[in-house]
Amino acid sequence: MERTLVLLKPDCVQRRLMGEIISRFEAKGLNIVGMKMMHVTPDLAKQHYAEHVEKPFYPSLESFITSAPIVALAIDGIEVIRVMRDLLGATNGCNAAPGTIRGDFSNSRQMNLVHASDGPEAAARELHLYFGTGDLCDFDHVTEEFMR
Ligand code: TYD
Ligand code: MG
Repeated sequence: MERTLVLLKPDCVQRRLMGEIISRFEAKGLNIVGMKMMHVTPDLAKQHYAEHVEKPFYPSLESFITSAPIVALAIDGIEVIRVMRDLLGATNGCNAAPGTIRGDFSNSRQMNLVHASDGPEAAARELHLYFGTGDLCDFDHVTEEFMR
């Protein structure tokens, strides 16, 4: 089992797509073990997007991600880091394959609805930015029966 960090970005919340997108995670058999609605501050944005802070698109990205509330999710599942990236589709909604979340709901490079960690190191780092110890609720072991 792995754990990944997902953000439902401001466009997702504003477009009232939270339920639709969370439904896909549940339908896939993934376990939501943490969920928090919050504002991303400029300081948190810089930590979250540390790899992009020096890039030309960063100022616009920061103003977008801080523009309205987001929902942070901690999600468990088998190979969930890759599985979640596959569910999201390509970064630019314009290029994302139909059937993926970005492919089905976004036609924008910046407003692509959802963030997901891109590897195990990023997942560990990003989970700690949004959740403290005690914030997460492990699924009961009985749930394992439903995942088979
Ligand atoms: P990136 O980490 O490359 O994409 P992903 O979200 O798929 O991991 O980029 C982070 C976010 O920055 C991306 O979701 C949208 C935004 N972005 C732009 O606005 N312009 C760009 O040219 C790129 C590459 C990303
Ligand atoms: Mg990324």
